[in-house]
Amino acid sequence: MQPLTPRERFLRACRREPVDRPPVWIMRQAGRYLPSYQEVRARASFMELCKTPDLAAEVTVRAVEDLGVDAAILFSDILLPCESMGLDLEFTDAGPRFPSPVRSASGVDALRVPDPASDSPYLAEAIARVRRGIGEDVPLLGFAGAPFTLAAYMTGGEVGKRLDTVIEMRYREPALLERLLDRLVEVVAAHLAHQIDAGCDAVQLFDTWASLLSPADFRRFALGPARRVIQALGTPRPPVIYYMKGSAGVLDDLPDLGCEVISLDWMQDLHRARGRLPGLAVQGNLDPAALFGPEEQVRALVRAQHGGQPGHVFNLGHGILPRTPVSGARAFVAAVKELSPAPVG
Ligand code: CP3
Repeated sequence: MQPLTPRERFLRACRREPVDRPPVWIMRQAGRYLPSYQEVRARASFMELCKTPDLAAEVTVRAVEDLGVDAAILFSDILLPCESMGLDLEFTDAGPRFPSPVRSASGVDALRVPDPASDSPYLAEAIARVRRGIGEDVPLLGFAGAPFTLAAYMTGGEVGKRLDTVIEMRYREPALLERLLDRLVEVVAAHLAHQIDAGCDAVQLFDTWASLLSPADFRRFALGPARRVIQALGTPRPPVIYYMKGSAGVLDDLPDLGCEVISLDWMQDLHRARGRLPGLAVQGNLDPAALFGPEEQVRALVRAQHGGQPGHVFNLGHGILPRTPVSGARAFVAAVKELSPAPVG
């Protein structure tokens, strides 16, 4: 097959069409492990970086150049729209923090549905600048947190500590949680639509914490709201990728989402998972820790994941870890680039 541009390769893989080789990118590819990110980050706080189009575009584009990946992902964070909803948000060294988490009906009712064009004008500006940097041949991904995962952060307040607050709320006051999720469906849909209008080629929904829920609750509080977000985007629309960490217990429900690609965590077998996702492409799912190992081992793991069938976007099973050696990330990308459309022995 003729070599494809990265954009053709990525979009064809999302549609499960044949490709010259599978595309590859890395979740959190512009992050603390990368010297070009650290350099820019030394000049600005994390929030400033996100909200200054020149800086956000610079780290986005440099990650693509440094790694040679097939896609750019806009530099931002899933929690920024929560700030536009009226909730104070801080990024500390330990992670994000909401000093006044949402725990009551009045708290939910006080949240507004922002208009991304006027509330986050830096987004479209950053997207335009990234496009100038990467050109037309490289796809640009937008993203948002899925409603349930955003609710987990907004009710919990502090990362790592109180993510279980959302589960307490589910049993104590399910109607309140649903009211919060309803609002988030609108916010997330508008946020994604804005990024698509500004020029993103695909969008990813991060539902990292949906596996906190029992399977029946997953359908009600995570899948249902995420499906409504996707429906609200209308058709035609660019491909939607859905990521959750720990999806093995609910795989059979995921075709109901109405997305094109499921991004799999590393705790399950890629080939078996594919068999349970009829009609969908998959993304993933190398263990992020594998990039600490020898390059030859990374190459062998990549070959083992290559099924040869269309509809696979190589990635890690979660975001790249902050202490990852850049050489490990490069070895991963190089190993995928050695693959051909046919399975490799
Ligand atoms: O992929 C990319 O390169 C694009 C940028 C991006 C960031 N965060 C930048 C970031 C994306 C897509 C995210 C998504 C995100 N943010 C998720 C979902 C994916 C996942 O990892 O589960 C979540 C849960 C968040 C919330 C968040 N933001 C946390 C928990 C933290 C702190 C801990 C951590 O992993 O870094 C952040 C901060 C953050 N977001 C950093 C970056 C590069 C580090 C900030 C710094 O420079 O100090």
